[in-house]
Amino acid sequence: MIWPVTRPPETLAERLAAAERQRQGQHRQRRRRLFERLPGQRVRTAQGTLHDFSSNDYLGLAHGPAAGAAGSGASALVSGYGPAHAALEEALAAWLQREAVLLTTSGFMANLAVATSLSQRDDLIVQDRLCHASLIDAARLSGARLRRFPHADLAAAERQLARDTGGHRLLVSDGVFSMDGDLAPVAGLARLAAAQGATLVIDDAHGLGVLGTDGGGICELAGLTAKEVPVLVGTLGKSFGVGGAFIAGDRTLIRHLENTARSIIYSTALAPVLASTALQRLEAVRAPERRQQLRSMVSYFRRRATELAIPLRPSETPIQPLVLGDETRTLAVAQALEQAGYLVGAIRPPTVPEHTSRLRITLSAGHSEACIDGLLTALRQALADLPPVSDSA
Ligand SMILES: Cc1ncc(COP(=O)(O)O)c(C=O)c1O
Repeated sequence: MIWPVTRPPETLAERLAAAERQRQGQHRQRRRRLFERLPGQRVRTAQGTLHDFSSNDYLGLAHGPAAGAAGSGASALVSGYGPAHAALEEALAAWLQREAVLLTTSGFMANLAVATSLSQRDDLIVQDRLCHASLIDAARLSGARLRRFPHADLAAAERQLARDTGGHRLLVSDGVFSMDGDLAPVAGLARLAAAQGATLVIDDAHGLGVLGTDGGGICELAGLTAKEVPVLVGTLGKSFGVGGAFIAGDRTLIRHLENTARSIIYSTALAPVLASTALQRLEAVRAPERRQQLRSMVSYFRRRATELAIPLRPSETPIQPLVLGDETRTLAVAQALEQAGYLVGAIRPPTVPEHTSRLRITLSAGHSEACIDGLLTALRQALADLPPVSDSA
């Protein structure tokens, strides 16, 4: 009798070492660095001070003072829900013209709550292919079937929805795409959801505070009501410059989430200091001044970049990607910019699709024209210093 040769199972240490070697080989190893946030859209690192073009602090509010009690002490259904939370939920609901709001500790948790509480096995979730990772993971965790349509392709979304009419169907999209800066075709998505009897979920993490006269995001810009977008997710960690997130909708929806969303029920409630600070910032988020300043920084950046023949994508939001394709070129340009005193995100797979590594340059009301000029001069030089793309690349 011949005994089968069994290989001992891979140990965890071997698995982690192999994964690390692979990441390093692909130039995809990442690490957290220490950044001390300074006023004036700057950060301090061990090497020195940099102008920050990497954060989502679109309105330049992240460095303002904080207010309120520090911790919540318990989950919201136990005793972690206090006056600061209630006041913020009420103010957010009034701002966004929704019946009610439910706070969560992060946007990731909000998206988990929505998908897992509203969908189950035999249901269908249809998403834009470029939706944020949290929306993809949330759909997977819900147990529903997940279909992803090519970016912004309404006809494909319609086909995917129409193919599968059993169970409930959620149609899901980012409002502003986080790595591309372009806007979702929300009016078309709303028409499609209505025609198909599906529920539209918009995650407007990057639109709130940035778009719309009142900063009400992509729904305000497109003139869409709560009826057309019944589930709206927003974060407090971007334009608000604080942290935390929320879901806005009708009272029945919010009560259902409050009772069933495990990512909220089994987690310590948002810290009251964040709720109070976000409430304090809401006035600045709604006021036009910072948004106008942000818009003029975006226009200035795009105009000057075009003059310098820097190839931009057609984004009118503060998210301005410069797609360089491969990881090494992207890292080389990001490092050259850092040497010159500018911090930008070097975004690589799996955050973006293969062969679309990019610099994610983000603008803020806290930037100045002089600072943008400095960034663009350094960027043009760094691009000129790149070796030509080889044929085999
Ligand atoms: C579209 C989108 N949704 C959700 C999130 C997650 O939000 P949070 O950082 O509050 O977890 C992000 C970014 O972080 C995002 O870009």
